[in-house]
Amino acid sequence: PNGSMAQLAVLIVVLTIVAQTNGQTGPFPPDFIWAVATSAYQVEGGWNASGKGVSNWDAFVHQPNNGIRDHSTGDVACDSYHKWQTDLELIRNLSVTHYRFSFAWTRLFPDGTNKTINQDGVDYYNNLINGLLAINVTPMVTLFHWDTPQALEDLGGWESPDSPQWFYDYVNFCFKTFGDRVKMWITFNEPWVTSWLGYGTGGNAPGKKDVCTGVYNVTHNIIKSHARAYRLYDQQYRSTQNGKVGITFNCDFKMAGSNSTADIAAADRGVQFQLGWFAHAIFVNGDYPQVMKDQIANHSKILGINTARLPVFTDEEKNFINGSSDFFGINAYTTQLTFAQDKSSLECSYDNDQDIFTNYSASWNSSGSDWLKYTPFGIRNLLNFIKNNFGNTKPIIITENGWSDRSGTLDDSERIQFYKDYITNVYLAYSQDGVNVRGYTSWALMDNFEWASGYTEKFGLHYVNFSDPSRPRIPKQSAFYYRDIILNNTKNA
Ligand code: NOJ
Repeated sequence: PNGSMAQLAVLIVVLTIVAQTNGQTGPFPPDFIWAVATSAYQVEGGWNASGKGVSNWDAFVHQPNNGIRDHSTGDVACDSYHKWQTDLELIRNLSVTHYRFSFAWTRLFPDGTNKTINQDGVDYYNNLINGLLAINVTPMVTLFHWDTPQALEDLGGWESPDSPQWFYDYVNFCFKTFGDRVKMWITFNEPWVTSWLGYGTGGNAPGKKDVCTGVYNVTHNIIKSHARAYRLYDQQYRSTQNGKVGITFNCDFKMAGSNSTADIAAADRGVQFQLGWFAHAIFVNGDYPQVMKDQIANHSKILGINTARLPVFTDEEKNFINGSSDFFGINAYTTQLTFAQDKSSLECSYDNDQDIFTNYSASWNSSGSDWLKYTPFGIRNLLNFIKNNFGNTKPIIITENGWSDRSGTLDDSERIQFYKDYITNVYLAYSQDGVNVRGYTSWALMDNFEWASGYTEKFGLHYVNFSDPSRPRIPKQSAFYYRDIILNNTKNA
């Protein structure tokens, strides 16, 4: 019997290794979320159709010298405002359990406030939601995916201390109007991008540049806005609507550039600055990570800046913020090699506050996006980082993962390889590392407006012909591949 036990053990080890090297994309539990995503500005078009107001992205793309690579706009995009029924067909064919999409705030509140409500916008989202439910797909709604009403941007946008109240009025309307059918809400998508690219470097709308302090104020207001939305749901809607409210972050996994203690600490610091900036407050203790507070105080002192650059939460605010999320949404794409580098005497900026330097290994294949390298191990490492630093009790949901090319080819074997290897690593995080990961989302349903890269970087499972006014969609090979992964893992699990 001992001999056969040993043989069995060897067999199990061998099978595990074979499974790992061949790539094993499941099985995940039967209630695992398999989703596909888009966002309003990137696909809807209809930028001024039927009463919609102007958003900061509408304004930004119509400004000269805005830096958009192909000088395009999202005025028409995939025309999903008119083609939502076609989209439902694509979604149904993928066999996903959930569709993640966002509301355009200005389609509901044209000037950003509840003074005027645009009924055509309400009808549009009602049609989409009801259409999804009719095909048995759960709507996962992002309340804010970067398109601030321009009327509010003119008043300071997320730099304004009034922004939590604006957001409160907007989400209150959304919960009240759609919450009988929408049971999964994401307050903010990638708020790091709004803070850093929107108000720090200025590469995204509204194109403001304040890397020293503005960027910290914006995050402060966004965290408060998120917490108010969550508590509102708790107090007024949860008992009758019984849904979940969470938030979605982004983080490029930071891999230490060497085994040195300094580089290992630098990699850790980099994740705390990008992800911990938001997640530490919401999931750990209502406040920013200690390492951020120390770094920023230290740099401010060296630069002779007396004002506190990192705003402070009161104890009451900390209690209010701490624990204000039902799940941990994460968009995970890439990895950066990270090294320690003293930047304390350089320009006052969030970037320099981190004392890190990052780059990419030349051995990592590049996608059509400069920042996105083929690093499947990184998603597993990032999931483990979340488990170890931000808690593992709330479900972790991958709310985006995907691969871009510049061609939009239908024969997208690279994208298939990407999904295979990344999902395998998500599976390993789940099955071997005990990470509480409960969902996976492909970005994106179809090629779309990739912000400052315009239409040049294509992430879609479906090709969209942007020179044809009717914007036809054609499934790529990866659409069939993703569907098969879902069918093998969910329906038969
Ligand atoms: C993150 C964003 O949420 C989405 O809008 C963007 O298109 C993808 N990642 C790809 O960059």
